[in-house]
This record gives sequence, C-alpha cells and structure tokens, in this order.
Amino acid sequence: MNQTELLDEARKKIIVAMDVPDIFAAHRVARPLAPHVGMFKIGKQLFTACGPEVIKLIKGMGGEVFLDLKYHDIPNTVAMAGLEAARLGVKMFNLHALGGPEMMETTMKALRAEYPDPENRPKVLAVTILTSSNQETLKAVGIDLPVKEMVVKLAKLAQACGVDGVVCSPQEIELIREACGPDFLIVTPGIRPADAKADDQKRIATPGAAVAAGSNYLVIGRPIIEQPDPVAAAQAITEEIVQVLQQ
Ligand code: C5P
Repeated sequence: MNQTELLDEARKKIIVAMDVPDIFAAHRVARPLAPHVGMFKIGKQLFTACGPEVIKLIKGMGGEVFLDLKYHDIPNTVAMAGLEAARLGVKMFNLHALGGPEMMETTMKALRAEYPDPENRPKVLAVTILTSSNQETLKAVGIDLPVKEMVVKLAKLAQACGVDGVVCSPQEIELIREACGPDFLIVTPGIRPADAKADDQKRIATPGAAVAAGSNYLVIGRPIIEQPDPVAAAQAITEEIVQVLQQ
C-alpha cells in the first residue's frame, strides 16, 4: 500500500461518536470532520431528538452512519427495524446478542432477502455484555457465567447467526479475535490517545494499541469532538493508526 492508501485505510477505521443533543450541534461537529473520518455513530440521544433527519444530514455531507440503537425485541420487530435502518442508508447498525438466536437469524435473513449483494447491505454488529455491566449485574439478572465467558459465548452465537461482528471493550479484542477468527468485525469504544484524558472510561486503549490487537473500527467521541481542533485530533489519530498498519 502506498502512503495515500494507508492514510485512507486508517481514516476509514475512525467512527466519531456523535454524543451531541441536537441537529445544530450535529451539523457543527460533522461538517468539518466528514472528509477526515470513516463514519459517524448516531446513538439513542441524537436519534430520539432528531430522527432520520440527522442520518440524511450526515449522508448529505458525504459521511457514513453507524446507527447505534442496540435493538432488542421480538424477532420480527428487530428484523423490520433493521430493514428500515438499511433503507435509510446506514453502513452499520447493532442489536443485543441477548435477544437470542431467533432474533438475530430473522434479522439477517430479512436483510439478505432485500440486499442479496453483501456489499450493499449494512453490517450488523452484536452487543454482547455492556461494558457498564459486571459480575454483580449479571448475577442480579440470573446469569452465573463469568463476564468474559458470556462475552465469548454471545460473540460466537452472534457469528453463528450470520451477524457480521461485535462491539466490545479493547480488553476483549484478542479473546474475540481468537474465538471468532479474522473475518469477524470488531468495533471498540474506550479509545484514548496517549496524551488524552480518560474521562469516565475505565478500561481504555490507545488507537494504535487497539488496531494492533485486532480492532477493525474505533469509536471515538470526546478525544475528537471536544478538542479545540477536532480535525487536527482526527488526523493525529489517523497518523497513529498508519504507524501500526505499516508494521
Ligand atoms: O467520548 P468517548 O470516546 O468516551 O465516547 C465513546 C462512545 O462509545 C460513547 O458514545 C459511548 O456511549 C460508546 N460506548 C462506550 N462503551 C461501550 C459501548 C459504547 O463508550 N461499551
């Protein structure tokens, strides 16, 4: 790969978390960043406030969208919601693996029927165990398996149901890569450049370390959007990823 291709490959790995309250803030944040990052993550707050308008806004800027609504419902409802997300043109959306095999299989089947070419359909990611949950949380809902075992069990289940990958903490990358192989997508939040504040994140990794460990995409919010120069922050992260890709 030449330098331009490497930069492009690195840039595409950055997913900016749009943790902003309204469409004006979304516009302000996404516009300068759109040419410099791979995707924008729209979560429950922004989507509840703005609806599909915010997806149109970002796509209109040439940006791509990861719709982070973490679907978890009866199989038909999740499948139909997933189809609507696909029709809005999102590149990725996610669901909870705890929704079970039928929910995941029904969703993937519905997507495959409408988008026979896998390149044209959104990638679907599973949430295994939320990183805000610990052993106590699992016990309280009747799950006795250790958290790490549950994470691997749910990642493998999602893969067996045709789901494309998972969202997980940087600490889980190697475990999941080993269990699910090289083609399973791994998307990691909890990313902090070496000189950045941890904020409320507890288990963090640098962009370079996460990519070196096997992460395909990095979800990064405050270390980009709350910097005085977000474009420069995104470019510095891209450079750090390039160093790893070159090795
Ligand atoms: O600002 P920061 O980089 O910490 O933002 C991380 C983003 O990733 C937030 O939108 C957060 O909700 C999300 N996320 C996370 N940890 C998870 C799953 C999602 O931080 N386990």
